[in-house]
Amino acid sequence: MELLAGRDPEDARALLDPVLTTMIDSVHRFEGTVNQVMGDGIMALFGAPIAHEDHAVRAGYAAIKLQESLRALSEQVQRQHGLSLQIRVGLNAGEVVVRGIDNDLTMDYSAVGETTHLAARMEQLAAPGTILVTEAFVRLTEGYLHFKPQGLVAVKGLAEPIEVFELIDAEPTRGRFQAAARGLSRFVGRRAEFDALDDALARARSGQGQVLAVIGEPGVGKSRLFYEFIDSPRTRGWTVLETGAVSYGKLSAYLPFRELLRTYFQIEARDDAAEVHAKVAARLTELDDSLRGIAPALIALLDVPVDDAAWPTLDPIQRRQRIFDALKRLLIRLSQARPLIVMVENLHWIDAETRAFLDNLVEIMPTARLLLLVNYRPEYQHGWGSKTHYVRLRLDPLSAESAEELLRVALGEAPELEPLKKLLFERTDGNPFFLEECIRTLVETKLLVGERGACRLGKSPAAIQVPATVQAILAARIDRLSAHDKRALQCAAVIGKDVPFSLLQAVVQVPEAPLREILAQLQTAEFLYETSLFPELEYTFKHALTQEVAYSTLLLERRRELHARIVTTMETLSGDRIASQVESLAHHASRGAVWDKAVTYQRRAGAKALERSASREAAAFFEQALEALEHLPKRRDTVEQAIDVRLDLRRALVPLADRVRILDHMQKAEALASELGDQRRLSWIAYGIAHCHYLANDQARTVEAGQRALALGGGADLAHEVGVNLLLGHSFHMSGDYREATVVLRRNIELIGERVRERFGLPIFPTFPGVTSRERLARCLGELGEFAEALRVGDDGLRIAEEINHAPSLTGMCLGLGLLHMRHNDLDRALAVLERGLDVGRRGSIYLYVLTVAAAVGRVYALTGRIAEGVALITGSVKEAESKNAALAHPLRLAWLAEAHLAAGEYERAWQRAEESIALSRRYKEKGQEVWTLHLLGEIATQRDPADFEGAERLYRQAMTAADALGMRPAIAHCRLSLGELRARAKHGEAARKHLEEAAGLFRDMGMVSLQKRAEEKLRGPSG
Ligand SMILES: Nc1ncnc2c1ncn2[C@@H]1O[C@H](COP(=O)(O)OP(=O)(O)O)[C@@H](O)[C@H]1O
Ligand SMILES: [Mg+2]
Repeated sequence: MELLAGRDPEDARALLDPVLTTMIDSVHRFEGTVNQVMGDGIMALFGAPIAHEDHAVRAGYAAIKLQESLRALSEQVQRQHGLSLQIRVGLNAGEVVVRGIDNDLTMDYSAVGETTHLAARMEQLAAPGTILVTEAFVRLTEGYLHFKPQGLVAVKGLAEPIEVFELIDAEPTRGRFQAAARGLSRFVGRRAEFDALDDALARARSGQGQVLAVIGEPGVGKSRLFYEFIDSPRTRGWTVLETGAVSYGKLSAYLPFRELLRTYFQIEARDDAAEVHAKVAARLTELDDSLRGIAPALIALLDVPVDDAAWPTLDPIQRRQRIFDALKRLLIRLSQARPLIVMVENLHWIDAETRAFLDNLVEIMPTARLLLLVNYRPEYQHGWGSKTHYVRLRLDPLSAESAEELLRVALGEAPELEPLKKLLFERTDGNPFFLEECIRTLVETKLLVGERGACRLGKSPAAIQVPATVQAILAARIDRLSAHDKRALQCAAVIGKDVPFSLLQAVVQVPEAPLREILAQLQTAEFLYETSLFPELEYTFKHALTQEVAYSTLLLERRRELHARIVTTMETLSGDRIASQVESLAHHASRGAVWDKAVTYQRRAGAKALERSASREAAAFFEQALEALEHLPKRRDTVEQAIDVRLDLRRALVPLADRVRILDHMQKAEALASELGDQRRLSWIAYGIAHCHYLANDQARTVEAGQRALALGGGADLAHEVGVNLLLGHSFHMSGDYREATVVLRRNIELIGERVRERFGLPIFPTFPGVTSRERLARCLGELGEFAEALRVGDDGLRIAEEINHAPSLTGMCLGLGLLHMRHNDLDRALAVLERGLDVGRRGSIYLYVLTVAAAVGRVYALTGRIAEGVALITGSVKEAESKNAALAHPLRLAWLAEAHLAAGEYERAWQRAEESIALSRRYKEKGQEVWTLHLLGEIATQRDPADFEGAERLYRQAMTAADALGMRPAIAHCRLSLGELRARAKHGEAARKHLEEAAGLFRDMGMVSLQKRAEEKLRGPSG
């Protein structure tokens, strides 16, 4: 330290003391011994006098911790004294001679010899603020710490220059098996499984991505198998990313991948947003500069605010898409650098988003150097069974032979043990976890005595009883723990599978030192493992079952208390990082019966899930919020919450198309809001109800509820009015009420004004209201024959959709404009814009739109002579829609198919499809569509062989009357033309002329030149 020169001694002391304290604390934290305090520094030992096998690692952690704490302190000193404060650290590993100078508790040690001399040299050579270490140190800590080589350095007193390294940082966590590496039973058997794993590995290495699933009961050895495989030399040169699900994580969207990213980017619990951004950016740039674009999606997954201007404008569906893409690109890119293993454990606990992502990954991986390893319990199911790159391994309990080996290594070979071994194998059925727990019990109850691998019977075998299940064994073992140990273990179980020390301490309420002792006991007894020393001390349960059983030994009342205490503790400990913990807080608050907080956190967790389009999880959180509300007294504010949660729930249920549940919640909410006489909430509920009816294609009810919603006013909320208008516009359009539709849609465009880039809350259509209002208005105007205005509005909509560059809006707009051009009989323009929509839609996987756009393209093909292509496209889309139960727009698709069959001369098929279409439009009261299909039926009747002219005439007239009532001028014109042609054919000159003149006039007015000419030619024609 160089800050003391020229300072007044008292001043210097005041500066130095906190520095020394900080250094000493860092050493103690990792159980080192400070054996010398010099004027401006300290010397510390690890591994003596307390022996730690990982002493070098601990020393490294302490050094990193020390530099970090010093940095914080130095900022303060800088501010107060204008001094910069930096220290150097040197580390070495080797033998030391330790002399006890004093014998009491304040023992003082002084170490001498070459090892300490070299450490001191490292310290002197280090640049201020850094940590310099020797090669010996690096060798002992590889895999735990990261270094940067600094080259060869000459050291006074040594003949040869030595290699030195700078210690950069620590590998964040270790898996539980690594943590237990010394205590593991010898790995036995599993040769066939290893062969299958080798095989998959070889294929993956050669660029044929593989998914390998290991399925088995708890404790059978799924995780251990993966651990042994990954830890073996075969995976050298591979990148390995490990993650997994936990039993209480089912609702945390993407939890396993969040963990995976945290590990990959080395994000630590205390990193603030800036650090997370920096780490992600640095790692991505290092991997591949072109990956910079995926950073926002990854950052969002890490629960840190995204600093990308475009991100907030994306809707949840797009965000989800981005997240999927980002993860896929990251994994694929990694697999190009080096072959990649992604391991996801415990799929039976994964959330719906992770599940969807894995399905996605499995689809794209066959050509990647990627091995996806997953495991799960037998009750889990997925749809990968038919994939050729999927391998399934059913993991059975150990064979008699393997179990025998395990027991031999653990107990030894004394003949008196034979009956016991036989009993153990029979009772446990060869489940290795069960076996291990049995052995532990026997040792703990002194039925077995002696060393590991050389045991003897302590009592007669008759006294030995093995409970029937591993749970019972675990419960009995826990019961035998001392009161303190048991209490700590139970508290840990309430926290979860992973247990941060700081949280545990606050919950158990025992000082640090005794608690550490307790934890050391629990580790020796193999209930817990220490998985992370750095940056935070953290423990994990040996097995999920251990945690479950420990949890179940608690009385309900006690559990509740602990969960409640965890909530308060987490709130204080997590500070501004609470956003990443809301799911966990929600879980503990609900279990802890802290109902008001449960409501708050469940709602926050739900909102967070909604943001990411994780609808299923969001719905579950909101439902739990409702449950929590049930426990609160009925007051105005709680009733209001009960309504609002249901409104939120609606938003989560819409993408799940769960109409029945939505309607049920809306009706309950309506009853509550009526009690309160709350107009504003009632109007939102009416909006929700209208939407339910719309989804059911019940337009009359939609209109009724929508108008009620408007009348109630929505508390003058623009989002409400825009939403309801849009819904009404759609609904009127569907039911053929084009004039009404134009009124609400025009009003909407006016209301939205310049705010075309706004979503107006979470809209019910996956598009921007400013675009969709124009799209629908253009189509309605088209049906009314107001083409000039329709085209203007449509082009406006397209321009806006392009400007905001929003794929669903753009696809929808292309579709609408395409349909308008078709209606206008301008097939060239229709085709151009539809093909564009198809392209955008397919690239953005905007499934529902693509279905209709593809059919529309097919229609244009069929009408322009590309009949086979057209039929194929429309047929595909009809089938797809039917398999997905997509009711909206289905009559339209069926009518197009009929029309294409007609063009192909397939009259019977055409007739059949047209009848199906008309039946559906009648069922759904789609009056406009019915008009067009009636006209089409007329065409089929005219063209089929034998023709049915009378029938055709009837159909045309029926269509015309209906079209007239709805003001559908293009439809009227078409009916007139067809009727005119029919009459002309029958030589009814006068009647023909009347129809044809009407038709020609209408087509002229609407600017439909070729049809106008067709009518006029007929008028001039020989029979006219
Ligand atoms: N083949 C094996 N040889 C020795 N011990 C095993 C073997 N398989 C599993 N074990 C031990 O059994 C216990 C449970 O195994 P684990 O892999 O956690 O089970 P699972 O993941 O199937 O629930 C662990 O302590 C593990 O070390
Ligand atoms: Mg496991």
